[in-house]
Amino acid sequence: MAKIAVLGYGTIGSGVVEVIAENAAVISKNAAEEISVKYIVDIREFPGDPFEKLIIKDFSIVLNDPEVSIAVETIGGTGIAYDFTKSCLLAGKSVVTSNKELVATKGDELLKIAEDKNVNYMFEASVGGGIPIIRPIIQCLAANVINEIYGILNGTTNYILTEMINSKTSFEDALRGAQAKGFAEQNPEADIEGKDACRKIAILSDLCFGRHVDPDDVKTEGIKGITPQDVEYAAAAGYKIKLLGRALRTGDGRITAYTAPHLISAAKLPANVDGVMNCVVVHGNALGEAMFYGAGAGKLPTAGAVVADVIDTVKHREKRKTIKWDDGFPGYVTDSDLLSSRFYVRARCAESNIKGLFSPGGAEFIGNKTAPDGVCAFLTKETGGAELKKILAGLDILSVFRVLD
Ligand code: HSE
Repeated sequence: MAKIAVLGYGTIGSGVVEVIAENAAVISKNAAEEISVKYIVDIREFPGDPFEKLIIKDFSIVLNDPEVSIAVETIGGTGIAYDFTKSCLLAGKSVVTSNKELVATKGDELLKIAEDKNVNYMFEASVGGGIPIIRPIIQCLAANVINEIYGILNGTTNYILTEMINSKTSFEDALRGAQAKGFAEQNPEADIEGKDACRKIAILSDLCFGRHVDPDDVKTEGIKGITPQDVEYAAAAGYKIKLLGRALRTGDGRITAYTAPHLISAAKLPANVDGVMNCVVVHGNALGEAMFYGAGAGKLPTAGAVVADVIDTVKHREKRKTIKWDDGFPGYVTDSDLLSSRFYVRARCAESNIKGLFSPGGAEFIGNKTAPDGVCAFLTKETGGAELKKILAGLDILSVFRVLD
């Protein structure tokens, strides 16, 4: 029997305990061994909780118990979660986590310790919640050169944007609705500022391109600047606005990785990934394109992915699973402004002020009957981000979003 400890009894941690109890039969069949929770570590009190007897406050009990071979870290953040993870790995215990912030920032270091100690550090639930994506990248697509990966990687912001598009609500009202429904955190800054999606695209980049990407090197823009006017202009031109994390090879062994709102043709699959759902699109040189879709957040979908990693860890006790990437180097992640694409621009000026700035046909204006006077919006031809900034310098620019063709 494999005995595990769950570190952090919040939404995901309690989901892990619940899934292990509910699905005990299928889990032990798939692991070829019974899996039981020996400890739940949390400093809070949980009176009346069905698993109250397992809850302890002292992490050192887990660390010093040779019977516990796997720790599930569902604390979040990079403070105590990092200390506990490192201690467990150094003590020869495998660690499974949903903590994207820790994997994105310290994953390279923790994986090296895991390799040294011949144990596993696994994090399927850190990207896309319940969507299988880490394992498909490292196993199913292992024969491909992956050239590009992008996705809707944050459920909260996708819910807000879907409400703004479908119910014509403002950003503020949509955020309040997300909080009332329990989708958004009471402090949703990491979501709406794009930081959560940034950490996830950093992890996907590590795996797809084989070098560590520091989330601080990933240019990140959230959704606060998107207005109902932008949503209307985008719809009038046949597009929807989605927050994407995106990374692609740029040549010379470098990549670009960034997080920003994009206009996507309403006819494309990712444009129709709505509400709290997520998707990840992968381009491989043998594969072509594949899209993974599903519940990107939520207690049980995420907990199910965590427990699947526990099962895999039980099955790879003797011969650990190899997950690793090399160090990055200065300049490895290039500025996304160097990347060419079409752009959507909304400006407080007349169309006539814009026309002369572009070659004939270079700005395709979008008609919008409800637009206020003195404001126009247009789509550019393919151009570099830095080049576009120079062209638009001095104008009163309200929004600029990339178009994903
Ligand atoms: N806050 C995240 C989201 C949770 O909204 O997607 C899942 O990582």
